[in-house]
Amino acid sequence: MAEPPSGTLEPMNEFEQMYREVILDHYRNPRGHGAMDDPDAEAEGMNPLCGDEVTIFVSLAEDGETIDDVKFSGRGCAISQAATSMLTEMVKGRSATEVATLPKEELLEEIGIPLTPIRLKCALLGLGVLKVALHRAKGTPLPEEWAGLDDEFQVR
Ligand code: FES
Repeated sequence: MAEPPSGTLEPMNEFEQMYREVILDHYRNPRGHGAMDDPDAEAEGMNPLCGDEVTIFVSLAEDGETIDDVKFSGRGCAISQAATSMLTEMVKGRSATEVATLPKEELLEEIGIPLTPIRLKCALLGLGVLKVALHRAKGTPLPEEWAGLDDEFQVR
């Protein structure tokens, strides 16, 4: 197999680089950052490994089911903040029931770079808190893999 010409990146590296840039952009310019007055659903969670926190606010459309808006506040590493920012874009306009069962792989695909188990916790913090917020407000089930999440992420 021919070697790639010197100076060009392997395709995988180019993709990873692109994903890294998207992550940094979400970190520096988070979408949906801020608080919400009178949200329909709200939860706050902390990653006990580092103490970083995320609070998620959700407003529902008039049908009481469609996610109209999602905001988040908190502090944390680039991955946790960027992943939560991406999440706010992913779930707007979808139904609470659909988001309650959203597989974590969908968010991880969006992030697009391989993550160590510790980084995985960072990446899933926002999604976990969102699922708990919906669970509390709407009674949507916490899927098996998220059971015990209240402890895992010390959700309040
Ligand atoms: Fe704290 Fe990533 S290091 S959430």
